Amino acid sequence: MSYPSRVKIVEVGPRDGLQNEKEFIPTAVKVELVERLAHAGFANVEAASFVSPKWVPQMADGTQVMESIERRPGTIYSVLTPNMRGFEGALAAKADEVVIFAAASEAFSQRNINCSVDESIERFVPVAQAAKQAGLRLRGSISCSLGCPYEGEIAPAKVLNVAQRLIALGCDEIDVADTIGVGTARRVYDLMRIITEQVDPARVSGHFHDTYGQAIANIVASMQAGIHIFHSSVSGLGGCPYAKGATGNVATEDVLYLMQGMGIDTGVDLDAVVDIGQWISGHLGRKSASHAGNALAARKGAIACS
Ligand code: HMG
Ligand code: MG
Repeated sequence: MSYPSRVKIVEVGPRDGLQNEKEFIPTAVKVELVERLAHAGFANVEAASFVSPKWVPQMADGTQVMESIERRPGTIYSVLTPNMRGFEGALAAKADEVVIFAAASEAFSQRNINCSVDESIERFVPVAQAAKQAGLRLRGSISCSLGCPYEGEIAPAKVLNVAQRLIALGCDEIDVADTIGVGTARRVYDLMRIITEQVDPARVSGHFHDTYGQAIANIVASMQAGIHIFHSSVSGLGGCPYAKGATGNVATEDVLYLMQGMGIDTGVDLDAVVDIGQWISGHLGRKSASHAGNALAARKGAIACS
């Protein structure tokens, strides 16, 4: 079995991780989180969303976050943009990459962005054109790629169809997202193989929520299928407001520990991320959801408890 020698980890904690928090998190904490993560070595940090504050109040301060962070040269700061209104905000706030987000499930598309899959793709056309014109990177996310909270199992053909439409819009990267964490290794491997027969594997990422504890196995299965970009969230923060019961993304510390153990380079300082995970968990008044993060922090005698 061959594995990559290097992977790219996209840290999504400040966006996917925090978006579901009920209590409003002060902008200064969000800013510190993004800055510390960039400093730990992530080449790409998903920093904010430019979505309707009525839909996701926690992300209402995206502009302030983006305008306040001290940028680290070379780091890509990504933001979610569901429509032109979001794109204009992202452009003004000097995002490096905008993320359009579709779903492989009709029901989830309606719940998440209030339109059908076809309508969402139409809505993304001007966003994609504007992003390209402005020289920004463009990423396309596909929710419910391995299952939907409303429709159940999702056929790989549906995921591939959305992936191809997002590529046709000019996306530099496509995120295969397991929104509710139901995927298991063989299905993930098969899906990634089906997608990468049509789409360059270098442009496909795995975005795994860890609801059923399968995310690490799914990352290994994805690497076996030729994928080398993964999303994760420091201390496993997160959930999705439109997928009941969904828990956070796979914890970044767990992914970094896996990669370190497998001799795969990430360019990220695991020790620094452990500290960030303990700090943000302490701020939120709960124990980190990262196994590796807690084990490594315990070794250092610095575990955060609620
Ligand atoms: P809508 O209600 O159909 O749209 O929402 P609308 O155009 O009628 O707008 C409603 C109100 O929002 C209006 O304000 C707009 O101006 C405003 P009002 O006139 O009522 O005062 N509005 C905006 N405000 C700020 N920024 C904007 C914006 N757009 C409209 N960009 C819409 C449609 C897409 C806007 C809404 O459904 C929405 O914002 N959804 C976002 C939901 C979301 O953020 N979900 C979580 C992120 S996705 C995710 O987590 C999955 C992912 O991690 C992968 C995975 O794990 O699956 C990526
Ligand atoms: Mg997600």
